[in-house]
Amino acid sequence: MKTPLERSVVLVGMMGVGKTSIGKRLAARLGCEFVDADEEIETAAGMSIAEIFEKFGEAYFRDGERRVVARLIEGKPKIIATGGGAFVNDATRALIRERALSIWLDADIQILADRVSRRNNRPLLKGRDPVEVLTELGRVRNPLYAEANIHIRSDASPHARTVENILKAISA
Ligand code: S3P
Repeated sequence: MKTPLERSVVLVGMMGVGKTSIGKRLAARLGCEFVDADEEIETAAGMSIAEIFEKFGEAYFRDGERRVVARLIEGKPKIIATGGGAFVNDATRALIRERALSIWLDADIQILADRVSRRNNRPLLKGRDPVEVLTELGRVRNPLYAEANIHIRSDASPHARTVENILKAISA
């Protein structure tokens, strides 16, 4: 399927849900560009997200994240993977809801915890039990993620099935 996108598709949802790998596959299927907002932030700041959190704190990171997401949405329609907290930030969420099509990717906590444990470089999980943190975050974040245009479960592995479900939902 190669339908030209009318506006950018922004993937939102918790850490470990697969926003980046699903986003890359989705972009390949749609023949459009894929951008990972976290990577853009790291390039713009010249340091890792962990370093930004450590040196400047979370509020500073969120502000940079909002600016990067705004810039990415302004350009040609593309697939954008955001960090797990982007859509939780009121200003960033308002921006995404106004100018893009948002998709909440969602999976069971245990699946998220297994996935993040494989490569745990997330400052919010540092030294803590991922199930505990993800459960706490989910309580606050899920009602906000629910404001996305489309809700898709991504428990399925491989991600190929999730991509098919997204394609169906966006062409419906
Ligand atoms: C965060 C998720 C991370 C990254 C940062 C904060 C969050 O991105 O933006 O560590 O608040 O959930 P991923 O969702 O890609 O892991």
